[in-house]
Amino acid sequence: MANDNSESFSTLRGMKDVLPKDEKYWRTMYETAQDLADHYEYKRIETPVLEEADLFERSVGEDTDVVSKEMYKFEDKGGNEVALKPENTASIARAYIEHGMRVDPKPVKMWYMDQFYRYERPQSGRFRRFHQLGCENLGIKEPIVEAELVSMAYSFFQDLDIDINVHINSIGSQEDRENYIVELKGYLKSKKSYLSEKSKEKLEDNPLRVLDSKQDEDQPIIEEAPQIIDWISEDSKQYLMTVIEYLDEMEIPYTLDSTLVRGLDYYTDTVFEFFEAGKDKGSQDALCGGGRYDKLIEEIGGKEETPAAGFSIGLERVLTILRRQAEDEEGKYKEFATSNLFFANLGEGARKKSLNILEKLRKNGIKVHHNLGKKALRDQLELADEYEVDHTFILGQKEMKEDSIIIRDMDSGNQEVVDQEDIVEEAKELYKG
Ligand code: HAM
Repeated sequence: MANDNSESFSTLRGMKDVLPKDEKYWRTMYETAQDLADHYEYKRIETPVLEEADLFERSVGEDTDVVSKEMYKFEDKGGNEVALKPENTASIARAYIEHGMRVDPKPVKMWYMDQFYRYERPQSGRFRRFHQLGCENLGIKEPIVEAELVSMAYSFFQDLDIDINVHINSIGSQEDRENYIVELKGYLKSKKSYLSEKSKEKLEDNPLRVLDSKQDEDQPIIEEAPQIIDWISEDSKQYLMTVIEYLDEMEIPYTLDSTLVRGLDYYTDTVFEFFEAGKDKGSQDALCGGGRYDKLIEEIGGKEETPAAGFSIGLERVLTILRRQAEDEEGKYKEFATSNLFFANLGEGARKKSLNILEKLRKNGIKVHHNLGKKALRDQLELADEYEVDHTFILGQKEMKEDSIIIRDMDSGNQEVVDQEDIVEEAKELYKG
């Protein structure tokens, strides 16, 4: 909080900066995602951080926690009700309609890595600003779509050495779900006095969320509750079984989880969540959530029914695991901008020339550490030692006159003088990245 000039500012509660010290993790996640997206032919989409609030009210659902309690909603200067995006599926569905993607070859495959905002109670793994990596597959309804999506998300975690258990379920059609909700509500009401205070609150508006409760007193009631799988059609059951057959084929470990219903209204049929393997689901938050949403496009104004499915991975939660891995295995994640070479300069003329040389090296794919702001050679060599480079190029006044450059072996201290015009060739030979 800053109420006078002497106080400094800080981020809002529940919002974190993405810092340079974590670049190695964020970039690893980004590059892993980009590689998967290329392989599975998903193209990147970016939607604005602000959307009409109504978009989320009509898709995610007015009674969901995400919209009713957590959405940052406000009036802009033009009097429009807008919201900071709490998630991306609705925005992507909006973009699909707005840009006429219905005429594109199906399925339309899009991916994103983006930031989202939910006014949640901040706690470990739960923030008010967070990042998701997600994929959306629009246009066809085939169990292989879910299988591909689960496989992609699973591969993302595998590439990062994170063991996953996939929880999967079907919530049937919207009609099946409505019938089930009536049954569930009746059952929960009959047990109301035993429910936790939180679940009592959810009972009226959003009884499905009671199934997610982590409160101890709710567990025996949840275990005995009617299961959605008994309320869905034979077709929906068969559909789920086919998805599961594909998972078996790909040897992806999963749990058929009858209490998994997801917290957003747009889902139909398949829903899934990912948890770290070897840990109890109750003790952790999901790393990934997704499912099928066949009615969403039509509900927000699409011309025809457009089957679709997708997933989103919570990247702050993945980040926590990567940091833990780095603690367990030193050097597992390396800085990206590394090099075994350093470039030092001495004197104004050499400094001027430096940018030229650095650029020439860059164009030849050679990164060199440097700090052109430091003037004394000793300081620059100290820095070279900190970077643990094995060779340093030194360009001083004498070398400027002679069109030469020194190459210093940092271990032995031996120095060799070469022609400046050979610098790229010399650097290529020494460069190890
Ligand atoms: P979601 O379950 O609301 O689904 O979020 C997906 C993931 O985002 C969660 O499993 C979690 O890892 C992460 N996440 C959610 N909220 C927070 C938070 N406050 N702080 C940190 N991480 C969080 C969706 O958003 C859907 N759009 C997923 C989807 C895509 N369904 C179909 N396509």
